[in-house]
Amino acid sequence: MVEILNTIKGFDISFHNKSQRIINISIKEDIIEKLIFPFNKFDIIALEYKPFTRFTLAKSLDDITQNKLGLFLQKIIKNRKTGCFILSVANVNKKITNDFLIKLSTAIGHLLGVPNHDAMSGKYYARFHVKHEDNSDSYLRKAYKNMDLHTDGTYVDEKTDWLIMSKLEEKNAEGGETSVLHLDDLENLDELLKDPVGKEDFLWGSPKSKNIDYKVKHPIFTEDENGMPSISYIDQFPEPQSMNQGNFLQKLSDSLEESSNKIITELPVGSMIVANNHFWLHGRKPFKENKSLCRELLRIRGKFN
Ligand SMILES: [Fe+2]
Repeated sequence: MVEILNTIKGFDISFHNKSQRIINISIKEDIIEKLIFPFNKFDIIALEYKPFTRFTLAKSLDDITQNKLGLFLQKIIKNRKTGCFILSVANVNKKITNDFLIKLSTAIGHLLGVPNHDAMSGKYYARFHVKHEDNSDSYLRKAYKNMDLHTDGTYVDEKTDWLIMSKLEEKNAEGGETSVLHLDDLENLDELLKDPVGKEDFLWGSPKSKNIDYKVKHPIFTEDENGMPSISYIDQFPEPQSMNQGNFLQKLSDSLEESSNKIITELPVGSMIVANNHFWLHGRKPFKENKSLCRELLRIRGKFN
């Protein structure tokens, strides 16, 4: 697996200290300096209204790395053994504004493929806060609840091959760590795969805030082109239509939450976790109660091209 640790000038690349499935990529100051000018060419409105500008950002980033970065990131995300990286800015200073991080995340997304329309925000990306007070209808913003392991895009009719979660801001946060699990590390995966219920169609809906006015049907487990299992699952949105389906979901949920192979990691401000959505599950640990808690995240989900 060491062959994946290419060297790209201006980047520090290493394995995550808890798992060789996750690659840490740190962007050094000189690359950030080189990005300031091309990134200033477009403001956020331009990126939102003119989709081609997003590819222009991605190209500027790739050009700075002699076109090595895009291929390298795709290799990590498509490789079954890895499929996940954490990209961070080595020195988070005043230049690393929210706009800069939106642009960097946009560039990374367009080196991987094309983002999906995010119905919750009506844009190609979504920004959202997690705070002490919340009256939303999903676990996304419930600071003091565990957000169970899941994949994204379970209730939409678009393919979701990958996802990016970037941390824009964080104040007074204790707890709230990111948890992730590679499907192949789930202890009783073989047993779950043998159960035919996991391969039958389930009905998937979503609460109001997601702005999706239809339901979709698909199995939890499918096979990819190499015969490897893919998972599409979230605890809150399947609508089981039989005792068998209900029991299967409960068993899967227990297996995921009890797995001792989950990787719990902190994501510093200015960094993003990027994962293959077919064989990585993600979640979040609860925060410690604090009235001034504030975290802002940005997400982009998309497909390979
Ligand atoms: Fe998610």
